[in-house]
Amino acid sequence: MGKISQGGKGLTMHTPVLLQKTIDELKVKAGGRYIDATAGEGGHLTEILKKGGIVLGIDWDRKQIEDLKSRLKDQPNLTLVAGNFAQIEEISQREGFVPADGILFDLGLSYKQITTSGRGFSYKNLDESLDMRLDPTKEEKASDIVNTLSSDNLYEILAKYSEELSSKALADALVLARQSRRIETVGDLVRVIDSVIGRKEERVYARVFQALRIAVNDEFENLKKGLEEGLRIIKEEGRIVVITFHSLEDRIVKRFARERNLVSSLVKPKYTAKAFERSAKLRVINKQRKS
Ligand SMILES: C[S@@+](CC[C@H](N)C(=O)[O-])C[C@H]1O[C@@H](n2cnc3c(N)ncnc32)[C@H](O)[C@@H]1O
Repeated sequence: MGKISQGGKGLTMHTPVLLQKTIDELKVKAGGRYIDATAGEGGHLTEILKKGGIVLGIDWDRKQIEDLKSRLKDQPNLTLVAGNFAQIEEISQREGFVPADGILFDLGLSYKQITTSGRGFSYKNLDESLDMRLDPTKEEKASDIVNTLSSDNLYEILAKYSEELSSKALADALVLARQSRRIETVGDLVRVIDSVIGRKEERVYARVFQALRIAVNDEFENLKKGLEEGLRIIKEEGRIVVITFHSLEDRIVKRFARERNLVSSLVKPKYTAKAFERSAKLRVINKQRKS
């Protein structure tokens, strides 16, 4: 994630996470071709451009790409494409970025998306519709999930992605609540959570909202495909850098490298003053295999 956490933690603008460390690990060289698979608000890719890299920026959220296009329109070394990084191979082939020198995945959402997109990503925006789709052409919204899935399936999503202890009670409460009225807004969902927890608990809201967002956008499946395709399109000496905030995402990245016997490392910045960065994990995967 490049980001703000749902908890807020005092961050008032989007700040690319672990910016310098990420750029160092990508080993950006002038004239090299880099794919920022999660262009977001352009923090990381701007830095790559400054170092002379040629950048393909991809984002599944069309609005992010439109904003970047209007803000960075005079950048000759930047190509911007709206798309899912699960199709990174096709997109990069089409745009002439294969083989690439490096790929960055900075997972999650940007601050602007959470706070102003109007799509119900934050538990703080009570009146927003419970949508959570990064791509509005996708069929299923978060509200469809909470209003149609069985209690068992809701439990599975909540337990797996939020690791929240009250997942069973929450799933049952959602099924009960929707019998009297559809759960349509952020506020509707927050009220159901309150009824189960018995108090206002931001940590629980954050986990439940994150779990639904992961389910709506197939985030873990996209990551697996993105890594798989990404590995195919980088040069032999190329690197994939992944920033995660969710332990299960990090596990996917770690397992991906281990199963393929790839050289990989977890990069721990010695010190970061920014509290939100302390929960970020930055992993580097080399195409090279362990000997
Ligand atoms: C944390 S932000 C990236 C911030 C960016 N590094 C910066 O410096 O501004 C993550 C971005 O990834 C995008 N994203 C999430 N899933 C995606 C996917 N499957 N394909 C492409 N973009 C995705 C989100 O829309 C969001 O803009």
